Amino acid sequence: MHLCVALWVCGVILAVLLGWQQRKCWRLIWQLNGWRGVVHQPLLWFLLCINLHPNSILEKVTYFRVFFQRPMAVLLGTRVLVYIDDPAGMECVLNAPECQDKTFLQDGFFVNRGLLHARGQQWKLRRKQLNPAFSHNIVTSFFDVFNSVGNQMIEQFATLPQLHGKSVSFTDAEDMLSRAVLEVSCLTIMGTPTNFTQIDDDHIAHSYKRLLEISAVRVVKPWLQSDLLHRLLEPELYAESKKNCQLLEDFVGGIVKTKHRNWRLRDAVGAAGPGEDTSSGWQRRIFIEQIFQLAANGEMTLEEIMHEAQSMVLVSFETVSNSIMLALLCLATHKGDCQERLRAEIAAVVPDTSGHVGLEQLQQLRYLDAFVSESLRLLATVPMNLRHVSRDFRLAGRDAIVPQNSIVVLDTFNMQRDERWWGANAKQFDPQRFLDQDQDQQPGETPARGEPRRQRDRRHSYSFLPFSNGLRSCIGRRYGLFIMKVFLVKLIANFEFQSDFQLEKLQFVENISLKFKNVDDIRLAIQPYRVSQASA
Ligand code: HEM
Ligand SMILES: *[C@@H]1O[C@H](CO)[C@@H](O)[C@H](O)[C@H]1NC(C)=O
Ligand SMILES: *[C@@H]1O[C@H](CO)[C@@H](O)[C@H](O)[C@H]1NC(C)=O
Repeated sequence: MHLCVALWVCGVILAVLLGWQQRKCWRLIWQLNGWRGVVHQPLLWFLLCINLHPNSILEKVTYFRVFFQRPMAVLLGTRVLVYIDDPAGMECVLNAPECQDKTFLQDGFFVNRGLLHARGQQWKLRRKQLNPAFSHNIVTSFFDVFNSVGNQMIEQFATLPQLHGKSVSFTDAEDMLSRAVLEVSCLTIMGTPTNFTQIDDDHIAHSYKRLLEISAVRVVKPWLQSDLLHRLLEPELYAESKKNCQLLEDFVGGIVKTKHRNWRLRDAVGAAGPGEDTSSGWQRRIFIEQIFQLAANGEMTLEEIMHEAQSMVLVSFETVSNSIMLALLCLATHKGDCQERLRAEIAAVVPDTSGHVGLEQLQQLRYLDAFVSESLRLLATVPMNLRHVSRDFRLAGRDAIVPQNSIVVLDTFNMQRDERWWGANAKQFDPQRFLDQDQDQQPGETPARGEPRRQRDRRHSYSFLPFSNGLRSCIGRRYGLFIMKVFLVKLIANFEFQSDFQLEKLQFVENISLKFKNVDDIRLAIQPYRVSQASA
């Protein structure tokens, strides 16, 4: 009897303590959605529990979000998870100094010690140190690499067994393309030539991609971040991740060590006469050289260099190759209208298809620019971003205080496909919308009075965020756009892409970058352009 009372009292005390701990969370839930927010909690917990896998989470969020009032808060233990899918909310979070850190969930990445994951002061310092490696001048100097590897890629695509009317699977085309992008990354990030476009016997490209997929599992199921639990609960996945990690560590480690040795030798020779120095101009200022310099100044250890290089190759190659593939998919499914228009524009600006595509050419390709933006809008390569709240902060316009330690989920993917910001045809692929927008921004143009406000006039600048924005936006934005465009120009000038697949049928998967569950249903017919022209 006494024991019963004691237990009961203990229970009450614990409940009160927990409630006290959660008070700011409940207040936020109330501030955002009132009593509905509170009543919906058990339902949200249930939905979260049954859908906790990368394979289903994006699809379910997309399906269920419309039933709730957003921004929305879900209580998780003593923290709260804040879901944001509107431009004003994004603007507030991305620019708030309290929201610049990554969450503990993102520690699930296997390569989690580079700039992408750095926190607090450490991040500020690192970002400042690395910014010069992605300056306009440096990135423009990469065009030679983009072009020469791009030409090799075209040769490889021509060997695909599609010439006699057979189609290629999306995955095969992706494999070919991602090897070319990896070769570019190794050249531009680490200054090291590889032959990945031709051959990748060790499956380095595949290992990177696979590791990112396994990382996605550890992000949504953070308990798998414990080595022990991972090994016990998912032994096969664990073994696979260990194998891949080792492979990539050896690969990057080998390159970094060799480079570093040469760098120090070169440094020791000092102001050596011309001719002795093999690396010239831009090669002196690329990423790896910058971090060697930092190491020489004692600002970075060799181990940190490894992590930074590992992480940079991963982010620069996976996002870019995925973005190009998504654009190709849009291209193949819109053969008539936009592909012809692109080809005509390219033919006018770059007459020689195997020729050099430079920055001046890209600047003239206005429709290509709109096409790339539209594909990044409709199929956001990085569908969601997570941020950790390091101090209480106010969500602008909502009169709500988000407590310290909250997790903010920024759903770029659904925002960029939302009718509220993109009009009734939000889910359709229509590059024209970006051209119209540009026209609106032309100086000197004042809209006539009484003219109905067009949908584009209402567009918020934060409704399109493929590279994120604010303080912690993508450092490789220019790099990514340039290589995407150079590769696309070469592909479109040389091949015709066609697919019977419909974009509405895509089943989305959040594997850190956007993937499709039904990828095996997508087949691409890739025909050399000139051949089909002759037969037409
Ligand atoms: C088209 C391709 C790309 C897309 C769509 C993309 C997208 C993004 C996004 C959305 C973020 C923000 C992540 C977050 O806030 O959680 C980001 C960050 C980052 N990206 Fe990219 N990216 C691309 C290409 C690149 C390239 C080519 C590089 C490097 C050469 C790169 C390096 C980085 C780095 C280092 C960060 C972390 C920045 C920081 O935390 O300070 N990205 N990217
Ligand atoms: C790439 O191939 C060329 C010749 O095909 C060869 O000389 C070179 O060593 C290869 N490079 C690497 C890094 O394998
Ligand atoms: C996404 O990642 C999961 C976990 O590794 C994997 O099982 C799944 O096949 C991946 N899905 C796609 C479409 O790549």
